[in-house]
Amino acid sequence: MEDLPPNHHADYPQFTGIFGFVAGLTMIIGRGRDARLVAQLASVTADQHVVDIGCGPGTAARLTAAGGTSVTGIDPSGPMLRLARILTAIRRPRGTLDWVQAGAESMPLPDASADVVWSLASVHHWPDLEGGIDEVTRVLRPGGMFLAVEKRTEPGATGNKSHGWTPQQATDFAAMLADRGYRDTSTADHDIGNRRLVVASGTHP
Ligand SMILES: C[S@@+](CC[C@H](N)C(=O)[O-])C[C@H]1O[C@@H](n2cnc3c(N)ncnc32)[C@H](O)[C@@H]1O
Repeated sequence: MEDLPPNHHADYPQFTGIFGFVAGLTMIIGRGRDARLVAQLASVTADQHVVDIGCGPGTAARLTAAGGTSVTGIDPSGPMLRLARILTAIRRPRGTLDWVQAGAESMPLPDASADVVWSLASVHHWPDLEGGIDEVTRVLRPGGMFLAVEKRTEPGATGNKSHGWTPQQATDFAAMLADRGYRDTSTADHDIGNRRLVVASGTHP
């Protein structure tokens, strides 16, 4: 079976217009546990700045900011960010929470400004993986942690079941981080409820 790259859904339609808004609505429910997992894996504290790339409607960003952490949610999709802002107006977090419309490959954020960068269910859509990782490397402070979380999928999966990573795709992504000098790169499966997630992570060189 052909080995697909970690960004195997790069040509998926952008989350624009009413499709983007409706897709965002489907992502509001059931993502809280993913958010808590990534915050726990990154040992996030209230005095840190987290960048959430491909934040969608912003569940992970909002939950993390609720604990007092400063969070920037980044997404190229206008409708996703509109939804994120509406939901944030309803439940205002304790920490600072900013929304920025941009893709991973070109983030309008200062160098070394993030303690943690994560991306949930998004890297498989990035059109330019290398450009995205280079931007993460620029924005993350030395010693900061980058985590990419995806739904664990099986080789040959199609349709909705293919939106995520096989173990091989996670390993390939971790290898890309290692090639760029990231330390302690790893992949790990995490079962939460009936969902199996795979996390590829590394520490900024
Ligand atoms: C499946 S949604 C996940 C949203 C959210 N992280 C969650 O887990 O609920 C994928 C998100 O990645 C975003 N995305 C697509 N291409 C991107 C890129 N090049 N850079 C950053 N985000 C991107 C989409 O707009 C969408 O909001």
